[in-house]
Amino acid sequence: MTRPVRIAPSILSSDFSKLGEEISAIDAAGADYIHIDVMDGHFVPNLTFGPPVIKCVRGASKKPFDVHLMISPVDPFIQAFADAGADIITIHPEAGPHWHRTLQAIRSMGKKAGLAINPATPTEVLDHVMDLVDLILVMTVNPGFGGQAYIPLADKIADVRARIDATGRDIDLEVDGGITPETAKEVIKAGANVLVAGTSVFKNGPSAYASSIKALRG
Ligand code: DX5
Ligand code: ZN
Repeated sequence: MTRPVRIAPSILSSDFSKLGEEISAIDAAGADYIHIDVMDGHFVPNLTFGPPVIKCVRGASKKPFDVHLMISPVDPFIQAFADAGADIITIHPEAGPHWHRTLQAIRSMGKKAGLAINPATPTEVLDHVMDLVDLILVMTVNPGFGGQAYIPLADKIADVRARIDATGRDIDLEVDGGITPETAKEVIKAGANVLVAGTSVFKNGPSAYASSIKALRG
């Protein structure tokens, strides 16, 4: 089955000194979602930005803000990210023992809820929450840094695709980490429909953003 492929550039690889301009530029270049990696130096070994920064750049694009929370605990911060302008809020099950409750909380704030699955996390974490997710994020690197090598997990992506298709609902299957025009082919074939890409979108500079995004669609 062919489904439209959406591209979610990760602003982790952008120039932070002009974050708003970078977001406007990837929007104009054809980005479908704006992927925002939030890291706390505890759940993952790196620090990025929080709700005040997201609020500041919210006006730079009308595209959905796809906020990937790599923080623990996560529950005390959901409201702040919702208020800052997140449209999709994705959490990791390891961020707290009650991910069913966390997904419910995101939905109750009128936001789309996502669950992220690390390379070593089994897809069984989805077993009892399929009715609560709007997006499932399969990590193809261990979270924390841009520019890492893709971990081939096509069978896992296909497993998640089968779980989504069994629901009959339009749940996004997003893949994040080491996505290039080459690895994009593999993950799309396995069933992904949203590709996060940091390095491959930003590495050749603003004049190439449109062609870099186009190259990922295959
Ligand atoms: C990693 C982040 C990714 C990262 C991807 O923890 O979740 O979104 O920015 O970067 P690339 O595309 O460079 O692997
Ligand atoms: Zn991410």
